[in-house]
Amino acid sequence: APPRRRALRGPAVTFRADPFLDDPSRALVHEPDALILVEDGHITRFGAFDALRDAIPEGTPVTSYPDCLLSAGFVDTHVHYPQLPMIAAYGEQLLEWLERYTFPTEARFADPVHAGQVARRFLRELLRAGTTSAAVYCTVHPQSVEAFFAESARLNTRMVAGKVLMDRNAPDGLRDTPQGGYDESLALIDRWHGRGRQLYAVTPRFAATSTEEQLDLAGSLLRQRDGLFMQTHLSENQAEVDWIRQLFPRRRSYLDVYAHAGLVGPRSVLGHGIHVDEENFCTCHAAGCALAHCPTSNLFLGSGAFRLFDAVDPRRPVRVGLGTDIGAGTSLSQLQTLNEAYKVAQSTGRRLHPAQAFWLATAGGARSLYLDDRIGTIAPGMEADLCVLDPRATPLMAQRAERCETIEDLLFVLMMLGDDRSVRATYVAGELLHDRDAAPQAA
Ligand code: GUN
Ligand code: ZN
Repeated sequence: APPRRRALRGPAVTFRADPFLDDPSRALVHEPDALILVEDGHITRFGAFDALRDAIPEGTPVTSYPDCLLSAGFVDTHVHYPQLPMIAAYGEQLLEWLERYTFPTEARFADPVHAGQVARRFLRELLRAGTTSAAVYCTVHPQSVEAFFAESARLNTRMVAGKVLMDRNAPDGLRDTPQGGYDESLALIDRWHGRGRQLYAVTPRFAATSTEEQLDLAGSLLRQRDGLFMQTHLSENQAEVDWIRQLFPRRRSYLDVYAHAGLVGPRSVLGHGIHVDEENFCTCHAAGCALAHCPTSNLFLGSGAFRLFDAVDPRRPVRVGLGTDIGAGTSLSQLQTLNEAYKVAQSTGRRLHPAQAFWLATAGGARSLYLDDRIGTIAPGMEADLCVLDPRATPLMAQRAERCETIEDLLFVLMMLGDDRSVRATYVAGELLHDRDAAPQAA
């Protein structure tokens, strides 16, 4: 069959370097009139339209977005799809919030029909927000994972997800056992890991809800197949940190609980990492694991302020991605998440440059997942996951955009004022899966 081709034209932004290590404005690539050529789900050409117009194969449809910004699709490195129904739950901090809202909500995912409905709604919302890849927690129920991957496979989105492992300190119906959790995980791995664009993450919820035996078995699971991910929570809340110290008195630190079980290495993604010290950052750097910065969640639960610029210190940079952490987070939009990331940085006396911000939401997220050779930038050979951002999506944004003189200015307006309304379109492996201005579809 002939290759399936399409081309997108419009202003584009992507990255040639890490803006936390290099000058942010030089790390940012801005092409005011770009062409992106896509063949069979991959980008084959990217550059100035004028330079590439003769390279467009005869008959290739070209879609133009002259007033938008083409970007790599956003990467959400920490999110719980089953918590979508309980977003914006009032009045608690982490441990009480888990008991009162989270566990009852997750209990419903024993029902595969419910799981399928929420997975569908969640993935549709992600695409509306311009997010094309995510590291996703399911629940303790294998059917919640099956439902998620089935829907992601149908959309052909590149997703990392896994079954929550949780064998203590959780209500009846939400606990597994060390061996049961291991066996169920391995069966899901063999069914989904590397099938199409789906990837599996071994997912112990956090050290408080797994026995040491379960954490050790999670470490053993990771060694059973190549390329597996690991995701969990680390040092989010002070009461949680105190509890972990009681539960694991022999470990030097919260991070060491995971390291001791063989859970800290490349493709490990640790959510939050707020209450950590310099030694922990050094360990993360040396191990190659990533921290997921979830500012809307940290502000919502009153957990604390992530020290982003300490984490990415060029002397021993730790990989950092951006997470929405729904349902503790308050938006699925990476733009809204960047808005809060900027304010959290301000509260620590630091300035998040717009190029650094958009890098976190795209290339940095991809790098923290070790997927930067496939997603997160616009370049030949990359998978064609793209979002089309509209910096003039509302009257307020339009009048503000008028005053922007540089691309950095415009990106800053997008991240401070933008949300799903600013996502004009989302492409997954070259296919248009979200079109903001299309007539509404029947569900
Ligand atoms: N720590 C353990 N479980 C969770 C969760 O579901 N959300 C958040 N934000 N923190 C957690
Ligand atoms: Zn979380």
